[in-house]
Amino acid sequence: MNDQTTIEESVADEIRALAADRNAVILAHNYERPEVQDIADYVGDSLGLSRQAAATDADTIVFCGVHFMAETASIISPDKTVLIPDLKAGCSLADSITASQLKAWRAEHPNATVVSYINTSAAVKAQTDYCVTSSNAVQVVESLPADADILFLPDRFLGLYVEMMTGRKLTIWQGGCHVHEKIGDLNLAEQQAKYPDAEVMIHPECGCSSACMAKSAMESDCSATHFESTSGMLTRARESKAKEFVIATETGILHRMRKENPGKRFYPASENSVCEYMKMITLDKLRDALKYNQFEVKVDPDLAERARLPIDRMMAIG
Ligand code: 13P
Ligand code: SF4
Repeated sequence: MNDQTTIEESVADEIRALAADRNAVILAHNYERPEVQDIADYVGDSLGLSRQAAATDADTIVFCGVHFMAETASIISPDKTVLIPDLKAGCSLADSITASQLKAWRAEHPNATVVSYINTSAAVKAQTDYCVTSSNAVQVVESLPADADILFLPDRFLGLYVEMMTGRKLTIWQGGCHVHEKIGDLNLAEQQAKYPDAEVMIHPECGCSSACMAKSAMESDCSATHFESTSGMLTRARESKAKEFVIATETGILHRMRKENPGKRFYPASENSVCEYMKMITLDKLRDALKYNQFEVKVDPDLAERARLPIDRMMAIG
């Protein structure tokens, strides 16, 4: 065991003791650093993490993820202490629409139903009719009346994906995630040429998703390309008979894929797909969060009440 591993183990022991002491649950997103994923009580996608936040009987939730996720946990569980180990862990996608931009957009479409990705601020959720995550966006949109005028925000690639899957026309906000939008057709083509037998999994936020969907729909055999949320990808990785996979999303997910499937090989569509916000959460900061009760994320009760409605509607659907 080298010195670095010994230090990490002792910080991990400290974290476990502090968490037990204050009855805290540690939640981590699939993009977190490997050592943070390994110490979490639950690792998952945005929907799974929201469900865990709703179900836990812990007094404190330490959210190893980005700010909108901790905010969502606090909206769902207002009586719990919700901590994020680094307040600077933001999200470029959530930042791509503000509450005042949404207000102006809604004023242009007064009869529209507003469907927002969970990657939004509490203030945006408070003006939303339905929230969605990447794992239930299609299902939620399909549950709305066929003639509904839908404003979909903020991710344009997820919006196009939902349009293709549902056959509906949406009015889509032109936002995007700075990590996923850069994963393009060329990245995929390069990796597919290198690993011709690999199954391809694409997160719908990716820049390559719409072109790939169109291509998949035209080809008679689309069995090698799958569009999945991060947890959907993990399930497919376990269940698929394929031995090799090209993964188009943030590279943090490869840790769990490799750990859970030692006999299979996983290649990122692009090595550079790293979300610096997710990687801001380190073991040291997680330990300090528990030790010094920092940094608490709390949403104003009036705002939280309005922001909760679209989350509850989403959770009731799927
Ligand atoms: P999911 O984990 O829900 O697929 O979302 C990915 C994401 O963008 C998180 O920031
Ligand atoms: Fe936001 Fe993109 Fe990072 Fe996910 S990967 S937290 S969408 S910036």
